[in-house]
Amino acid sequence: MKSDFSPYVPRPATLVAKNTLSEYVTLFEFAQDSGKTLAHRPGQFIQVSVYGVGEAPFSVSSPPQSDHHHFELAVRRTGSVTNALHNLQTGSKVGIRGPYGSYFPMQKFVGQDLLFVAGGLGYIPIRSVLYYMLRHREEYGDIILLVGTRHPGERIFTDQLEEISRRSDVHVLETVDMPDENWQGNVGVITTLFPKIRINPENTNVAMIGPPVMYRFVIDECAKLGIPQERIYVSLERRMKCGLGKCGHCQINGINCCTDGPVFCYTKIANLPEAF
Ligand SMILES: Cc1cc2nc3c(=O)[nH]c(=O)nc-3n(C[C@H](O)[C@H](O)[C@H](O)COP(=O)(O)OP(=O)(O)OC[C@H]3O[C@@H](n4cnc5c(N)ncnc54)[C@H](O)[C@@H]3O)c2cc1C
Ligand code: FES
Repeated sequence: MKSDFSPYVPRPATLVAKNTLSEYVTLFEFAQDSGKTLAHRPGQFIQVSVYGVGEAPFSVSSPPQSDHHHFELAVRRTGSVTNALHNLQTGSKVGIRGPYGSYFPMQKFVGQDLLFVAGGLGYIPIRSVLYYMLRHREEYGDIILLVGTRHPGERIFTDQLEEISRRSDVHVLETVDMPDENWQGNVGVITTLFPKIRINPENTNVAMIGPPVMYRFVIDECAKLGIPQERIYVSLERRMKCGLGKCGHCQINGINCCTDGPVFCYTKIANLPEAF
């Protein structure tokens, strides 16, 4: 069977570039050997195999590219697969499956405002949504980006965030939980940024990704601003194996995070206490 036609067989991709984002996080640029575009939607993930080590899911951090076959992943070192990825040299081969999972409803957002809430590594998939919107800027309303990090040393994509914050059509606000001596910005958890923003609740959608503990607090802030729950979208990460809805590893109360998610409208999971 040709690998291109089986969801179970990884397709080859080549590591084209590596850039350090922080002590533990690296940006990897890959190119599909087939020369085809990845054809993902913002919020989707792929399964990456490091040959001889194992396979793990990662969100695609670059926006969809209709014109070329390169794509980016930002990966934090945590264990065997992520360490092996960090040890690869450019030119190395990996296997990829996907893109998989649900995605942010970019068509539904057309003509509306978007409030991004990115906690820690949650900015990795949000970046794909944000850059998609910036490429189609005229189709969307106001964009507000809230970014929260535990410590200034853990901030990622800092140069790009600075560049975006200089734009007049995006409002970027950042905070850290624990400042160092050089930090001059806001201090506190991400919800401390909410009093600083002005939104039109009738026209605002929320895209939120971060540590699960953040979600309930952010949902409360959104409620205070009058944003209805059906306009709030979250992404949930669970341990995954197949990515195809077959193995059950990623289930929460009968919901497969890999196929029903990872992106959910909040109303779909609001009554699942196991989700957060
Ligand atoms: C849909 C999805 C998208 C993801 N996107 C990204 C991304 O863009 N960048 C990124 O760095 N990581 C991402 N992750 C998490 C990433 O898949 C895990 O860090 C990776 O599987 C760890 O593999 P490992 O072999 O290096 O670690 P292991 O040796 O398997 O484990 C090392 C440590 O990581 C923890 N761990 C393993 N899997 C997960 C998981 N799924 N979630 C949280 N902790 C885990 C283990 O509990 C253990 O403490 C994503 C996960 C999912 C489900
Ligand atoms: S990872 Fe196998 S069912 Fe979701």
